[in-house]
Amino acid sequence: MKERIYIGVAWPYANSPLHMGHIAGAYLPPDIFARYHRMKGNQVLMVTGSDMHGTPITISAEREGCSPSEVAWKYHRSFLESWETLGISFDLFTHTDTENHARVSQDIFLKLYNQGDIYKDTVLQPWCPQCRRFLPDRYVEGDCPNCSYEGARGDQCDKCGQPLNPVDLVKPRCGLCAATPEFKESEHFFLRLSAFQERLIEWVKTKENLWRPNVYRFTLSYLENGLKDRAITRDIDWGIPLPLEGYPNKRIYVWFEAVIGYLSASIEWAQITGEPEKWKEFWQSDSVKSYYFIGKDNIPFHTIIWPAMLMGYGGLVLPYDVPSNEYLTIEGKKLSSSRNWAVWLPDYLSRYDPDPLRYLLSANMPETSDTDFSWREFVRRNNDELVATYGNLAQRVLTITYRHFEGRVPQPGEMDAVDKDLLAKAAQAFEKIDRLLYACHFREAIRLAMTLAGDANRYLEEKSPWKVIKTDKAAAGTALYAALSVVDTLKTVMYPFLPFSSRKLHYYLGYEGRIEDNGWKMTSIEPGKKLNPPEPLFVKLDESIIEQETSRLGTQQEVK
Ligand code: MF3
Ligand code: ZN
Repeated sequence: MKERIYIGVAWPYANSPLHMGHIAGAYLPPDIFARYHRMKGNQVLMVTGSDMHGTPITISAEREGCSPSEVAWKYHRSFLESWETLGISFDLFTHTDTENHARVSQDIFLKLYNQGDIYKDTVLQPWCPQCRRFLPDRYVEGDCPNCSYEGARGDQCDKCGQPLNPVDLVKPRCGLCAATPEFKESEHFFLRLSAFQERLIEWVKTKENLWRPNVYRFTLSYLENGLKDRAITRDIDWGIPLPLEGYPNKRIYVWFEAVIGYLSASIEWAQITGEPEKWKEFWQSDSVKSYYFIGKDNIPFHTIIWPAMLMGYGGLVLPYDVPSNEYLTIEGKKLSSSRNWAVWLPDYLSRYDPDPLRYLLSANMPETSDTDFSWREFVRRNNDELVATYGNLAQRVLTITYRHFEGRVPQPGEMDAVDKDLLAKAAQAFEKIDRLLYACHFREAIRLAMTLAGDANRYLEEKSPWKVIKTDKAAAGTALYAALSVVDTLKTVMYPFLPFSSRKLHYYLGYEGRIEDNGWKMTSIEPGKKLNPPEPLFVKLDESIIEQETSRLGTQQEVK
Protein backbone atom coordinates (compact mmCIF):
# COMPACT_ATOMS: atom_id res chain seq x y z
CA MET A 1 0.00 0.00 0.00
CA LYS A 2 1.25 3.46 -0.87
CA GLU A 3 2.10 5.61 2.10
CA ARG A 4 1.92 9.34 2.53
CA ILE A 5 5.02 10.83 4.11
CA TYR A 6 5.32 14.45 5.17
CA ILE A 7 8.88 15.58 5.81
CA GLY A 8 9.43 18.84 7.67
CA VAL A 9 13.00 20.06 7.82
CA ALA A 10 14.38 22.65 10.27
CA TRP A 11 14.22 26.17 8.84
CA PRO A 12 17.77 27.51 8.62
CA TYR A 13 18.31 31.09 9.79
CA ALA A 14 19.18 33.17 6.75
CA ASN A 15 22.10 34.85 8.50
CA SER A 16 25.13 32.73 7.64
CA PRO A 17 26.16 30.18 5.04
CA LEU A 18 25.53 26.50 5.71
CA HIS A 19 28.22 24.36 7.25
CA MET A 20 28.81 20.65 7.77
CA GLY A 21 27.01 20.70 11.12
CA HIS A 22 23.79 21.82 9.47
CA ILE A 23 24.10 19.22 6.73
CA ALA A 24 24.88 16.25 8.95
CA GLY A 25 22.37 17.31 11.58
CA ALA A 26 19.31 18.34 9.66
CA TYR A 27 19.53 18.43 5.85
CA LEU A 28 21.13 15.26 4.55
CA PRO A 29 19.02 12.83 6.63
CA PRO A 30 15.65 14.03 5.32
CA ASP A 31 16.95 14.00 1.77
CA ILE A 32 17.99 10.36 2.13
CA PHE A 33 14.62 9.59 3.62
CA ALA A 34 12.67 11.45 0.91
CA ARG A 35 14.59 9.84 -1.95
CA TYR A 36 14.05 6.41 -0.43
CA HIS A 37 10.30 6.90 -0.04
CA ARG A 38 9.86 8.46 -3.46
CA MET A 39 11.68 5.55 -5.01
CA LYS A 40 9.35 3.19 -3.17
CA GLY A 41 6.51 4.97 -4.89
CA ASN A 42 5.23 6.62 -1.73
CA GLN A 43 3.78 10.10 -1.81
CA VAL A 44 6.30 12.46 -0.26
CA LEU A 45 6.12 16.14 0.58
CA MET A 46 9.38 17.62 1.86
CA VAL A 47 9.35 21.34 2.58
CA THR A 48 11.17 24.02 4.50
CA GLY A 49 12.72 27.41 3.80
CA SER A 50 14.81 30.24 5.10
CA ASP A 51 13.98 31.48 8.59
CA MET A 52 14.13 35.20 7.81
CA HIS A 53 12.81 36.96 10.90
CA GLY A 54 13.88 37.63 14.43
CA THR A 55 17.01 38.88 16.13
CA PRO A 56 19.36 36.37 14.53
CA ILE A 57 18.73 38.24 11.29
CA THR A 58 18.67 41.79 12.71
CA ILE A 59 21.93 41.23 14.58
CA SER A 60 23.65 40.06 11.39
CA ALA A 61 22.18 42.98 9.44
CA GLU A 62 23.54 45.43 12.01
CA ARG A 63 26.93 43.79 11.82
CA GLU A 64 27.01 43.74 8.02
CA GLY A 65 25.62 47.25 7.74
CA CYS A 66 22.60 46.42 5.63
CA SER A 67 18.88 45.81 6.06
CA PRO A 68 17.48 42.59 7.54
CA SER A 69 15.84 41.84 4.22
CA GLU A 70 19.13 42.19 2.34
CA VAL A 71 20.92 39.82 4.69
CA ALA A 72 18.08 37.31 4.53
CA TRP A 73 17.94 37.33 0.75
CA LYS A 74 21.66 37.04 0.37
CA TYR A 75 21.75 33.82 2.37
CA HIS A 76 18.49 32.57 0.97
CA ARG A 77 19.99 32.63 -2.50
CA SER A 78 23.12 30.91 -1.24
CA PHE A 79 20.97 28.15 0.35
CA LEU A 80 19.10 27.56 -2.90
CA GLU A 81 22.37 27.15 -4.73
CA SER A 82 23.73 24.78 -2.11
CA TRP A 83 20.65 22.52 -2.25
CA GLU A 84 20.97 22.31 -5.99
CA THR A 85 24.66 21.41 -5.93
CA LEU A 86 24.48 19.05 -2.96
CA GLY A 87 21.33 17.43 -4.30
CA ILE A 88 18.96 18.15 -1.41
CA SER A 89 15.65 17.50 -3.13
CA PHE A 90 13.07 19.70 -1.42
CA ASP A 91 9.63 19.80 -2.97
CA LEU A 92 9.66 23.41 -1.90
CA PHE A 93 12.31 25.58 -0.26
CA THR A 94 10.59 28.86 0.48
CA HIS A 95 11.14 31.49 3.19
CA THR A 96 9.20 33.07 6.04
CA ASP A 97 8.89 36.56 4.56
CA THR A 98 6.08 35.62 2.16
CA GLU A 99 2.55 36.96 2.29
CA ASN A 100 1.22 33.43 2.45
CA HIS A 101 3.30 32.64 5.53
CA ALA A 102 2.21 35.86 7.25
CA ARG A 103 -1.44 35.08 6.55
CA VAL A 104 -1.24 31.49 7.84
CA SER A 105 0.71 32.62 10.94
CA GLN A 106 -1.78 35.35 11.73
CA ASP A 107 -4.67 32.96 11.25
CA ILE A 108 -3.23 30.52 13.77
CA PHE A 109 -2.39 33.33 16.19
CA LEU A 110 -5.92 34.72 15.94
CA LYS A 111 -7.68 31.41 16.38
CA LEU A 112 -5.61 30.54 19.45
CA TYR A 113 -6.17 34.07 20.80
CA ASN A 114 -9.92 33.93 20.28
CA GLN A 115 -10.21 30.63 22.10
CA GLY A 116 -8.03 31.74 25.01
CA ASP A 117 -4.90 29.71 24.25
CA ILE A 118 -3.10 33.00 23.68
CA TYR A 119 -3.58 35.79 26.23
CA LYS A 120 -2.17 39.20 27.02
CA ASP A 121 -0.02 39.81 30.08
CA THR A 122 2.91 41.89 31.21
CA VAL A 123 6.38 40.51 31.19
CA LEU A 124 9.66 41.65 32.64
CA GLN A 125 11.92 42.54 29.78
CA PRO A 126 15.63 43.15 30.08
CA TRP A 127 16.63 46.77 29.59
CA CYS A 128 20.27 47.75 29.45
CA PRO A 129 20.93 50.99 31.34
CA GLN A 130 24.22 51.46 29.53
CA CYS A 131 22.99 50.85 25.98
CA ARG A 132 19.66 52.46 26.89
CA ARG A 133 17.56 49.90 25.06
CA PHE A 134 15.37 46.85 25.52
CA LEU A 135 17.41 43.77 24.81
CA PRO A 136 16.05 41.07 22.54
CA ASP A 137 16.33 37.58 24.06
CA ARG A 138 19.49 36.75 22.22
CA TYR A 139 21.23 39.89 23.40
CA VAL A 140 21.13 38.75 27.02
CA GLU A 141 23.54 36.21 28.39
CA GLY A 142 23.80 34.56 31.76
CA ASP A 143 24.04 31.31 33.65
CA CYS A 144 21.51 28.63 32.81
CA PRO A 145 19.07 27.99 35.69
CA ASN A 146 18.85 24.37 34.63
CA CYS A 147 22.46 23.25 34.07
CA SER A 148 24.47 26.30 35.25
CA TYR A 149 26.19 26.68 31.87
CA GLU A 150 27.65 30.18 31.84
CA GLY A 151 27.02 31.03 28.19
CA ALA A 152 23.22 30.60 28.13
CA ARG A 153 21.23 33.17 26.17
CA GLY A 154 17.85 34.71 26.86
CA ASP A 155 16.10 32.40 24.42
CA GLN A 156 17.76 29.11 25.15
CA CYS A 157 20.65 27.27 26.72
CA ASP A 158 22.83 25.66 24.07
CA LYS A 159 24.32 23.27 26.60
CA CYS A 160 21.19 21.52 27.92
CA GLY A 161 18.73 22.64 25.24
CA GLN A 162 16.28 24.25 27.68
CA PRO A 163 14.27 27.07 26.12
CA LEU A 164 14.53 30.10 28.40
CA ASN A 165 13.04 33.50 29.02
CA PRO A 166 15.48 36.32 29.76
CA VAL A 167 14.24 36.58 33.39
CA ASP A 168 15.18 32.94 33.96
CA LEU A 169 18.90 33.65 33.52
CA VAL A 170 21.06 33.67 36.63
CA LYS A 171 23.50 36.63 36.66
CA PRO A 172 22.16 38.18 33.43
CA ARG A 173 24.53 40.33 31.35
CA CYS A 174 23.97 42.56 28.35
CA GLY A 175 25.37 40.75 25.31
CA LEU A 176 26.53 44.07 23.83
CA CYS A 177 28.29 45.74 26.75
CA ALA A 178 28.19 43.20 29.60
CA ALA A 179 26.34 45.60 31.95
CA THR A 180 23.70 44.08 34.21
CA PRO A 181 20.30 44.69 32.64
CA GLU A 182 17.31 45.96 34.59
CA PHE A 183 13.98 44.29 34.08
CA LYS A 184 11.13 46.57 33.03
CA GLU A 185 7.51 45.70 32.47
CA SER A 186 6.23 45.39 28.93
CA GLU A 187 2.96 44.06 27.57
CA HIS A 188 3.08 40.86 25.56
CA PHE A 189 1.04 37.93 24.31
CA PHE A 190 1.56 34.51 25.80
CA LEU A 191 0.97 31.01 24.54
CA ARG A 192 -0.84 29.07 27.26
CA LEU A 193 1.46 26.06 27.13
CA SER A 194 0.57 25.06 30.68
CA ALA A 195 -2.91 24.12 29.48
CA PHE A 196 -1.46 21.48 27.15
CA GLN A 197 0.80 19.75 29.62
CA GLU A 198 -1.35 16.70 30.35
CA ARG A 199 -2.39 16.16 26.77
CA LEU A 200 1.20 16.44 25.63
CA ILE A 201 2.45 13.96 28.21
CA GLU A 202 -0.20 11.47 27.18
CA TRP A 203 0.69 11.92 23.51
CA VAL A 204 4.46 11.74 24.04
CA LYS A 205 4.09 8.51 26.02
CA THR A 206 2.71 6.84 22.89
CA LYS A 207 6.10 7.52 21.27
CA GLU A 208 8.22 5.58 23.74
CA ASN A 209 9.22 2.83 21.33
CA LEU A 210 9.29 4.99 18.24
CA TRP A 211 11.29 8.12 19.03
CA ARG A 212 15.03 8.03 19.48
CA PRO A 213 15.73 7.53 23.19
CA ASN A 214 17.37 10.95 23.64
CA VAL A 215 14.44 12.73 21.99
CA TYR A 216 11.91 10.80 24.04
CA ARG A 217 13.66 11.22 27.39
CA PHE A 218 14.43 14.89 26.86
CA THR A 219 10.85 15.67 25.91
CA LEU A 220 9.22 13.70 28.67
CA SER A 221 11.40 15.06 31.45
CA TYR A 222 10.90 18.56 30.11
CA LEU A 223 7.15 18.08 30.25
CA GLU A 224 7.24 16.50 33.67
CA ASN A 225 9.17 19.48 35.00
CA GLY A 226 6.11 21.57 34.27
CA LEU A 227 5.38 23.72 31.23
CA LYS A 228 5.44 27.47 31.56
CA ASP A 229 3.51 29.83 29.32
CA ARG A 230 5.74 31.64 26.85
CA ALA A 231 5.70 35.14 25.40
CA ILE A 232 5.17 34.88 21.66
CA THR A 233 5.45 38.57 20.71
CA ARG A 234 8.46 40.88 20.68
CA ASP A 235 9.19 44.61 20.54
CA ILE A 236 10.94 44.63 17.20
CA ASP A 237 10.02 45.95 13.77
CA TRP A 238 11.27 43.09 11.59
CA GLY A 239 8.78 40.23 11.41
CA ILE A 240 5.09 39.45 11.12
CA PRO A 241 2.70 42.04 12.59
CA LEU A 242 0.06 40.91 15.10
CA PRO A 243 -3.38 40.33 13.63
CA LEU A 244 -4.80 42.72 16.28
CA GLU A 245 -5.31 46.49 16.29
CA GLY A 246 -3.12 48.63 18.52
CA TYR A 247 0.28 46.90 18.49
CA PRO A 248 2.17 48.53 15.62
CA ASN A 249 5.56 48.07 17.31
CA LYS A 250 5.20 44.41 18.12
CA ARG A 251 5.85 41.39 15.95
CA ILE A 252 5.07 37.71 16.33
CA TYR A 253 8.02 35.94 17.94
CA VAL A 254 10.20 34.26 15.34
CA TRP A 255 9.95 30.81 16.92
CA PHE A 256 6.17 30.92 17.01
CA GLU A 257 5.88 31.72 13.33
CA ALA A 258 8.85 29.70 12.03
CA VAL A 259 7.29 26.38 13.03
CA ILE A 260 4.06 27.49 11.34
CA GLY A 261 6.17 27.47 8.18
CA TYR A 262 5.72 23.70 8.07
CA LEU A 263 2.05 24.28 7.32
CA SER A 264 2.31 27.47 5.27
CA ALA A 265 5.01 26.01 3.02
CA SER A 266 2.74 23.03 2.34
CA ILE A 267 -0.04 25.41 1.36
CA GLU A 268 2.33 27.37 -0.88
CA TRP A 269 3.54 24.15 -2.48
CA ALA A 270 -0.03 23.13 -3.26
CA GLN A 271 -0.72 26.49 -4.87
CA ILE A 272 2.42 26.22 -6.98
CA THR A 273 1.55 22.72 -8.18
CA GLY A 274 -1.82 24.00 -9.33
CA GLU A 275 -3.84 21.90 -6.89
CA PRO A 276 -4.43 24.39 -4.08
CA GLU A 277 -6.26 21.87 -1.87
CA LYS A 278 -3.57 19.22 -2.09
CA TRP A 279 -1.79 20.28 1.11
CA LYS A 280 -4.74 18.83 3.01
CA GLU A 281 -3.68 15.34 1.99
CA PHE A 282 -0.61 15.85 4.15
CA TRP A 283 -2.23 17.70 7.04
CA GLN A 284 -5.78 16.53 7.45
CA SER A 285 -5.57 12.82 6.81
CA ASP A 286 -5.05 10.22 9.52
CA SER A 287 -2.92 8.10 7.25
CA VAL A 288 -0.06 10.62 6.97
CA LYS A 289 3.20 10.08 8.79
CA SER A 290 4.86 13.41 9.56
CA TYR A 291 8.60 13.40 10.20
CA TYR A 292 10.57 16.40 11.41
CA PHE A 293 14.30 16.38 10.81
CA ILE A 294 16.12 18.79 13.11
CA GLY A 295 19.27 19.29 15.15
CA LYS A 296 19.11 18.57 18.85
CA ASP A 297 18.95 22.23 19.90
CA ASN A 298 15.51 22.37 18.25
CA ILE A 299 13.91 19.40 20.01
CA PRO A 300 11.45 21.14 22.39
CA PHE A 301 10.11 23.37 19.65
CA HIS A 302 9.15 20.31 17.61
CA THR A 303 8.11 17.84 20.29
CA ILE A 304 6.31 20.29 22.59
CA ILE A 305 5.59 23.78 21.35
CA TRP A 306 4.59 23.02 17.75
CA PRO A 307 2.49 20.00 18.84
CA ALA A 308 0.77 22.21 21.44
CA MET A 309 0.00 24.79 18.75
CA LEU A 310 -1.37 22.07 16.49
CA MET A 311 -3.49 20.60 19.29
CA GLY A 312 -4.84 24.04 20.05
CA TYR A 313 -5.62 24.79 16.44
CA GLY A 314 -7.17 21.37 15.87
CA GLY A 315 -7.72 19.21 12.82
CA LEU A 316 -4.06 19.04 11.79
CA VAL A 317 -1.69 16.08 11.93
CA LEU A 318 0.76 15.92 14.85
CA PRO A 319 4.38 14.86 14.37
CA TYR A 320 4.81 11.13 13.95
CA ASP A 321 8.55 11.06 14.52
CA VAL A 322 11.22 13.66 15.25
CA PRO A 323 14.50 11.95 14.39
CA SER A 324 16.76 14.62 15.79
CA ASN A 325 20.51 14.29 15.44
CA GLU A 326 23.32 15.09 17.85
CA TYR A 327 26.21 17.39 16.98
CA LEU A 328 29.09 17.14 14.56
CA THR A 329 32.48 18.20 15.85
CA ILE A 330 35.19 19.41 13.47
CA GLU A 331 38.66 17.88 13.83
CA GLY A 332 37.80 16.93 17.38
CA LYS A 333 36.62 20.35 18.49
CA LYS A 334 33.24 21.93 18.95
CA LEU A 335 32.05 23.64 15.77
CA SER A 336 32.04 27.43 16.04
CA SER A 337 30.91 29.74 13.25
CA SER A 338 32.25 32.87 14.91
CA ARG A 339 35.73 31.42 15.33
CA ASN A 340 35.52 29.94 11.82
CA TRP A 341 36.01 26.48 13.24
CA ALA A 342 33.68 25.18 10.58
CA VAL A 343 33.72 23.68 7.13
CA TRP A 344 31.47 25.83 4.99
CA LEU A 345 29.33 24.09 2.45
CA PRO A 346 29.78 26.60 -0.41
CA ASP A 347 33.55 26.30 0.09
CA TYR A 348 33.41 22.54 0.04
CA LEU A 349 31.23 22.47 -3.07
CA SER A 350 33.54 24.85 -4.91
CA ARG A 351 36.34 22.25 -4.64
CA TYR A 352 34.84 18.76 -4.38
CA ASP A 353 31.99 16.60 -5.61
CA PRO A 354 28.79 16.26 -3.59
CA ASP A 355 28.68 12.45 -3.25
CA PRO A 356 31.92 12.02 -1.25
CA LEU A 357 30.56 14.45 1.35
CA ARG A 358 27.16 12.81 1.37
CA TYR A 359 28.94 9.51 1.89
CA LEU A 360 31.15 10.67 4.73
CA LEU A 361 28.34 12.40 6.58
CA SER A 362 26.05 9.40 6.15
CA ALA A 363 28.69 6.95 7.34
CA ASN A 364 29.53 9.24 10.27
CA MET A 365 26.05 10.54 10.94
CA PRO A 366 25.59 11.82 14.53
CA GLU A 367 22.45 9.76 15.04
CA THR A 368 22.95 8.54 18.58
CA SER A 369 25.98 10.49 19.76
CA ASP A 370 28.20 13.31 18.57
CA THR A 371 30.51 12.36 15.71
CA ASP A 372 33.54 14.02 14.21
CA PHE A 373 34.31 15.43 10.78
CA SER A 374 37.96 15.34 9.84
CA TRP A 375 39.64 15.84 6.50
CA ARG A 376 41.76 12.77 7.08
CA GLU A 377 38.62 10.69 7.50
CA PHE A 378 37.12 12.37 4.45
CA VAL A 379 40.09 11.41 2.28
CA ARG A 380 40.26 7.93 3.76
CA ARG A 381 36.60 7.16 3.20
CA ASN A 382 36.74 8.60 -0.29
CA ASN A 383 39.86 6.70 -1.32
CA ASP A 384 39.41 3.40 0.54
CA GLU A 385 35.66 3.01 0.41
CA LEU A 386 34.17 5.00 -2.47
CA VAL A 387 37.08 4.61 -4.88
CA ALA A 388 38.72 1.33 -3.86
CA THR A 389 35.67 -0.65 -2.79
CA TYR A 390 32.47 0.55 -4.45
CA GLY A 391 33.85 2.44 -7.44
CA ASN A 392 36.43 -0.23 -8.18
CA LEU A 393 33.81 -2.97 -8.09
CA ALA A 394 31.55 -1.19 -10.54
CA GLN A 395 34.43 -0.18 -12.78
CA ARG A 396 35.98 -3.65 -12.96
CA VAL A 397 32.75 -5.48 -13.64
CA LEU A 398 31.51 -3.00 -16.20
CA THR A 399 34.80 -2.68 -18.10
CA ILE A 400 35.48 -6.39 -18.40
CA THR A 401 31.94 -7.08 -19.47
CA TYR A 402 31.94 -4.21 -21.88
CA ARG A 403 35.18 -5.32 -23.44
CA HIS A 404 34.64 -9.07 -23.66
CA PHE A 405 30.91 -9.44 -24.13
CA GLU A 406 30.30 -6.91 -26.88
CA GLY A 407 29.00 -4.37 -24.42
CA ARG A 408 26.13 -6.59 -23.34
CA VAL A 409 25.05 -8.29 -20.11
CA PRO A 410 26.30 -11.93 -20.39
CA GLN A 411 23.93 -14.86 -20.38
CA PRO A 412 24.51 -16.68 -17.06
CA GLY A 413 24.99 -20.44 -16.98
CA GLU A 414 24.29 -22.73 -14.03
CA MET A 415 25.06 -20.97 -10.72
CA ASP A 416 27.26 -22.70 -8.17
CA ALA A 417 27.14 -22.31 -4.39
CA VAL A 418 29.48 -19.32 -4.43
CA ASP A 419 27.36 -17.45 -6.98
CA LYS A 420 24.21 -18.24 -5.07
CA ASP A 421 25.79 -17.16 -1.82
CA LEU A 422 26.64 -13.76 -3.26
CA LEU A 423 23.13 -13.22 -4.62
CA ALA A 424 21.64 -14.32 -1.30
CA LYS A 425 23.85 -11.81 0.49
CA ALA A 426 22.63 -9.09 -1.83
CA ALA A 427 19.00 -10.03 -1.21
CA GLN A 428 19.56 -10.03 2.54
CA ALA A 429 21.35 -6.69 2.45
CA PHE A 430 18.54 -5.20 0.39
CA GLU A 431 15.93 -6.31 2.92
CA LYS A 432 17.92 -5.04 5.87
CA ILE A 433 18.74 -1.71 4.26
CA ASP A 434 15.08 -1.29 3.43
CA ARG A 435 14.10 -1.81 7.05
CA LEU A 436 16.87 0.46 8.34
CA LEU A 437 15.97 3.33 6.02
CA TYR A 438 12.33 2.99 6.93
CA ALA A 439 13.31 3.42 10.58
CA CYS A 440 15.68 6.34 9.87
CA HIS A 441 18.82 4.36 10.77
CA PHE A 442 20.87 5.84 7.96
CA ARG A 443 24.31 5.19 9.29
CA GLU A 444 23.86 1.46 9.64
CA ALA A 445 22.11 1.29 6.26
CA ILE A 446 25.03 2.75 4.36
CA ARG A 447 27.46 0.59 6.28
CA LEU A 448 25.62 -2.51 5.08
CA ALA A 449 25.58 -1.22 1.51
CA MET A 450 29.35 -0.76 1.57
CA THR A 451 29.77 -4.20 3.17
CA LEU A 452 27.90 -5.70 0.24
CA ALA A 453 30.26 -3.95 -2.17
CA GLY A 454 33.17 -5.51 -0.24
CA ASP A 455 31.54 -8.96 -0.46
CA ALA A 456 31.15 -8.56 -4.20
CA ASN A 457 34.81 -7.59 -4.54
CA ARG A 458 35.89 -10.70 -2.65
CA TYR A 459 33.61 -12.78 -4.85
CA LEU A 460 35.25 -11.32 -7.94
CA GLU A 461 38.70 -12.08 -6.59
CA GLU A 462 37.67 -15.64 -5.98
CA LYS A 463 36.06 -16.06 -9.40
CA SER A 464 38.67 -14.01 -11.27
CA PRO A 465 36.64 -13.74 -14.48
CA TRP A 466 39.49 -11.80 -16.10
CA LYS A 467 41.58 -15.00 -15.92
CA VAL A 468 38.86 -17.57 -16.41
CA ILE A 469 37.69 -15.84 -19.55
CA LYS A 470 40.68 -17.17 -21.44
CA THR A 471 39.70 -20.79 -20.84
CA ASP A 472 36.00 -20.79 -20.02
CA LYS A 473 34.09 -17.78 -21.31
CA ALA A 474 30.73 -19.14 -20.15
CA ALA A 475 31.92 -19.42 -16.55
CA ALA A 476 33.34 -15.91 -16.68
CA GLY A 477 30.00 -14.73 -18.04
CA THR A 478 28.14 -16.27 -15.13
CA ALA A 479 30.40 -14.58 -12.59
CA LEU A 480 30.10 -11.24 -14.33
CA TYR A 481 26.37 -11.63 -14.52
CA ALA A 482 26.15 -12.24 -10.75
CA ALA A 483 28.47 -9.30 -10.04
CA LEU A 484 26.53 -7.02 -12.39
CA SER A 485 23.33 -7.91 -10.56
CA VAL A 486 24.89 -6.88 -7.29
CA VAL A 487 26.18 -3.64 -8.81
CA ASP A 488 22.67 -3.00 -10.06
CA THR A 489 21.29 -3.56 -6.56
CA LEU A 490 23.98 -1.32 -5.07
CA LYS A 491 22.95 1.41 -7.47
CA THR A 492 19.49 1.30 -5.93
CA VAL A 493 20.39 1.06 -2.24
CA MET A 494 23.08 3.73 -2.63
CA TYR A 495 20.76 6.08 -4.48
CA PRO A 496 19.24 7.84 -1.45
CA PHE A 497 22.76 8.54 -0.17
CA LEU A 498 24.71 9.01 -3.41
CA PRO A 499 22.24 10.16 -6.04
CA PHE A 500 24.82 11.54 -8.47
CA SER A 501 26.90 8.38 -8.79
CA SER A 502 23.84 6.13 -8.79
CA ARG A 503 22.47 8.09 -11.70
CA LYS A 504 25.70 7.52 -13.62
CA LEU A 505 25.70 3.83 -12.77
CA HIS A 506 22.12 3.54 -13.94
CA TYR A 507 23.25 4.88 -17.27
CA TYR A 508 26.37 2.68 -17.55
CA LEU A 509 24.16 -0.32 -16.80
CA GLY A 510 22.25 0.55 -19.93
CA TYR A 511 18.99 1.76 -18.47
CA GLU A 512 16.92 4.38 -20.15
CA GLY A 513 14.88 6.81 -18.14
CA ARG A 514 15.49 8.21 -14.70
CA ILE A 515 16.79 6.07 -11.87
CA GLU A 516 14.14 7.68 -9.67
CA ASP A 517 11.44 5.98 -11.73
CA ASN A 518 13.11 2.61 -11.67
CA GLY A 519 11.61 1.73 -8.30
CA TRP A 520 12.98 0.50 -5.01
CA LYS A 521 13.56 -3.12 -5.88
CA MET A 522 16.22 -5.74 -6.40
CA THR A 523 16.76 -5.95 -10.10
CA SER A 524 17.54 -9.13 -11.93
CA ILE A 525 19.46 -7.59 -14.73
CA GLU A 526 18.42 -8.77 -18.16
CA PRO A 527 20.92 -10.94 -20.11
CA GLY A 528 21.71 -9.46 -23.49
CA LYS A 529 20.94 -5.92 -22.33
CA LYS A 530 23.15 -3.31 -23.96
CA LEU A 531 25.50 -1.43 -21.62
CA ASN A 532 26.92 2.06 -22.06
CA PRO A 533 30.68 2.70 -22.00
CA PRO A 534 31.64 2.89 -18.31
CA GLU A 535 33.68 5.58 -16.63
CA PRO A 536 35.01 5.77 -13.06
CA LEU A 537 32.38 6.76 -10.50
CA PHE A 538 34.71 8.52 -8.07
CA VAL A 539 38.07 10.25 -8.11
CA LYS A 540 40.93 9.53 -5.78
CA LEU A 541 41.94 12.50 -3.64
CA ASP A 542 45.50 13.46 -2.90
CA GLU A 543 46.54 13.22 0.74
CA SER A 544 47.92 16.74 0.53
CA ILE A 545 44.42 18.21 0.72
CA ILE A 546 44.24 17.13 4.38
CA GLU A 547 46.86 19.67 5.35
CA GLN A 548 45.54 22.29 2.94
CA GLU A 549 42.02 22.06 4.24
CA THR A 550 42.74 21.83 7.95
CA SER A 551 44.91 24.92 7.72
CA ARG A 552 41.88 26.93 6.64
CA LEU A 553 40.14 26.19 9.94
CA GLY A 554 40.06 28.92 12.53
CA THR A 555 41.65 31.53 10.29
CA GLN A 556 39.94 34.87 10.59
CA GLN A 557 40.11 36.08 6.99
CA GLU A 558 37.82 33.27 5.97
CA VAL A 559 34.97 34.25 8.26
CA LYS A 560 31.84 34.57 6.20
N1 MF3 B 1 16.00 28.78 12.50
C1 MF3 B 1 16.08 27.85 13.59
C2 MF3 B 1 17.48 27.41 13.83
O1 MF3 B 1 18.26 27.47 12.90
C3 MF3 B 1 15.33 26.59 13.36
C4 MF3 B 1 13.96 26.80 13.21
S1 MF3 B 1 13.17 25.32 12.94
C5 MF3 B 1 11.63 25.88 12.94
O2 MF3 B 1 17.79 26.97 14.92
F1 MF3 B 1 10.87 24.95 12.77
F2 MF3 B 1 11.34 26.50 14.01
F3 MF3 B 1 11.53 26.72 11.97
ZN1 ZN C 1 24.37 46.97 27.26
